[in-house]
Amino acid sequence: MFDELRIAEQFSAHERIVLFHGDCLELLHSIPDQSIQLIVTSPPYNLGKEYERKLKLETYLEQQAKVISECVRVLRDNGSICWQVGNYVDNGSIIPLDSVLYPIFSDLRLKMRNRIIWHFEHGLHCSRRFSGRYETIMWFTKSNDFVFKLDPIRVPQKYPGKRYFKGPRAGEYSCNPLGKNPGDLWVIPNVKNNHVEKTEHPCQFPVELIERLVLSMTNEGDSVFDPFMGTGTSIIAAIRHERKGIGSEVFEKYIAIAKERIQQTLEGTLKTRPMDRPVYDPIRAGNSLSVSPWSQTSKAQSQDLFAAESKTPAN
Ligand SMILES: C[S@@+](CC[C@H](N)C(=O)[O-])C[C@H]1O[C@@H](n2cnc3c(N)ncnc32)[C@H](O)[C@@H]1O
Repeated sequence: MFDELRIAEQFSAHERIVLFHGDCLELLHSIPDQSIQLIVTSPPYNLGKEYERKLKLETYLEQQAKVISECVRVLRDNGSICWQVGNYVDNGSIIPLDSVLYPIFSDLRLKMRNRIIWHFEHGLHCSRRFSGRYETIMWFTKSNDFVFKLDPIRVPQKYPGKRYFKGPRAGEYSCNPLGKNPGDLWVIPNVKNNHVEKTEHPCQFPVELIERLVLSMTNEGDSVFDPFMGTGTSIIAAIRHERKGIGSEVFEKYIAIAKERIQQTLEGTLKTRPMDRPVYDPIRAGNSLSVSPWSQTSKAQSQDLFAAESKTPAN
């Protein structure tokens, strides 16, 4: 069995946690075929962020294709790949990266299971187009026989008290008591400055986003791999749920942050936003900043809205 607390620097099937400092292709070349259950990542978007050099789109896609093809090699037959992306922006014109990456996956005969919309409320305010408030997760499997479990990730039913009103089960509750399928539109806060998980990395994804994928697409003891690991979010989501976590990152400062966060996870001190916490609603919370200083009537209006909402059943 593996040493529970060790963070290894090279891949070995016997290690629980591997953080490789270097190019993901180098790490991938050391991983045997069919050894990973879930590959989940958010690659650079070719925007010229501090951790990437902006390339011609074709060159960027060629590089992605090399990494994706190696990922398919190391993926188990019943495994999944989740590629989380946003837009590439060229001179004010957007190109959704999922649309240009999709052919790479389909040429490798992967099967798309969902294109999950991850909606969040904070980000840049655009003045010449609508502000971007979603990104996507492309979920692919290698075969039709793949691991997928809904029960660990069900969300509360809208009408848990609903009953069958006719037929042989009339009068019985009609909903699954464990909750419902979360659907393919996920509303999860992104990691901005006031998020509990924020580090100095400009593009972290939230742990709860990856926990949902880990819990539904892997079993305990399985390996989860993130080729573009950044601050180690995928590794944290994996080891929290008794999976193995493997990642690569070229920048030393992000490796250092990942190590620290993983160490805190092992010690049980890392603060994360829980998966079952509803999105903060400043009006419901009575936050005084939600009252417009420019409108005399806004306070009265929001109080009226509240009163009306508490009387009407949820729609
Ligand atoms: C979008 S960020 C991922 C952030 C990560 N999801 C998190 O939660 O922190 C992409 C990361 O990939 C790293 N990266 C870029 N090219 C790489 C390569 N060839 N191999 C490994 N890491 C790379 C960048 O330094 C950056 O930290």
